[in-house]
Amino acid sequence: MHSFKELLEKFEQQFGKRQFPEKPANLYDPAQYILGIGGKRVRPVLCLLGNELFDELHPDAYNAANAIELFHNFTLIHDDIMDKAPLRRGMPTVHTKYNDAAAILAGDVMLIHCYEYLNKINSKTRQKLVNVFNKAAREVCEGQQLDMDLEQMLPEQVNYADYVNMIALKTSVLLAASLQLGAIIGGGSEGNQHHLYEFGKNVGIAFQIQDDYLDAFGDPEKFGKQQGGDILINKKTFLLLKALELCSPAQKAHLHQLMDTNPDNKVAEVLQVFHDCRVDEWAEKEKERFSQAAYEHLDAIAVLSARKEPLKDLAGFLLTRQH
Ligand code: IPE
Ligand code: IPE
Ligand code: MG
Ligand code: MG
Ligand code: MG
Repeated sequence: MHSFKELLEKFEQQFGKRQFPEKPANLYDPAQYILGIGGKRVRPVLCLLGNELFDELHPDAYNAANAIELFHNFTLIHDDIMDKAPLRRGMPTVHTKYNDAAAILAGDVMLIHCYEYLNKINSKTRQKLVNVFNKAAREVCEGQQLDMDLEQMLPEQVNYADYVNMIALKTSVLLAASLQLGAIIGGGSEGNQHHLYEFGKNVGIAFQIQDDYLDAFGDPEKFGKQQGGDILINKKTFLLLKALELCSPAQKAHLHQLMDTNPDNKVAEVLQVFHDCRVDEWAEKEKERFSQAAYEHLDAIAVLSARKEPLKDLAGFLLTRQH
């Protein structure tokens, strides 16, 4: 068994080499660029941890892990176009550094490369693995579209359950599926797979809540994204939904005016209202609620509790992360 840090090193050793051909450079350089500017590599490590929860690391776990990280980076390139984001991992986003067309195509070719890794899987479980992967991939697209739909709606039309459903789809199913893919490769039973998936899903919801919190209140130097990016595009995060629920009629009118008119000082003004309504305290409560649910599922997995320690470590890191 390995710690999550050791698995991260093992993953990087084989994933860190150039993934794409040299030419045409305008297609492959943007794809290689996003892989080269960092990233926490959380999902592939979850896959390796899912395998090691039940058995020794299998070479197929690396094929699945590589596929997952490529899929994730593909979604990031396209997400940054959708979210009009200038910065990612402290560097210019792909569409900013190159252009929109290059970013769309780099994402597309990355998705194909992802399926090439899945195709390399040798074991009898390949069909099952591809099915689990495809379900998560489809749900990520559903979540991303819901995110776009909510952006266009008035905040009063969006309730908190809509928000949780949207973040579960766009973010947490991929973390959950990463664990499940590892568990399948490691020979975990259906029951154990289910609990591991639900553990990942609940951790993933808390992970996106932390992401939304950091988008507003994080240190942009550490977080590596534009501060208040979600505020600028009227994203329906829990911060906005809770602020509108808790604030005074005057603050509410002020928030609406800021969202409608997009003044230069929008981010600072919205952040002030978020502060005054203390919505940041909600992040802590909500992360706690979803991590409790996650740990109940982790407890229900029928393996020695010592084997679960690396997963607990990783979940703890994800929920307190600053980047
Ligand atoms: C960013 O994911 C997208 C979200 C789902 C919030 P990560 O925070 O895992 O991004 P990297 O790969 O570490 O940059
Ligand atoms: C992203 O959610 C989810 C996916 C990329 C599928 P966000 O839009 O919040 O992620 P960041 O903040 O840009 O990393
Ligand atoms: Mg987004
Ligand atoms: Mg985004
Ligand atoms: Mg975000």
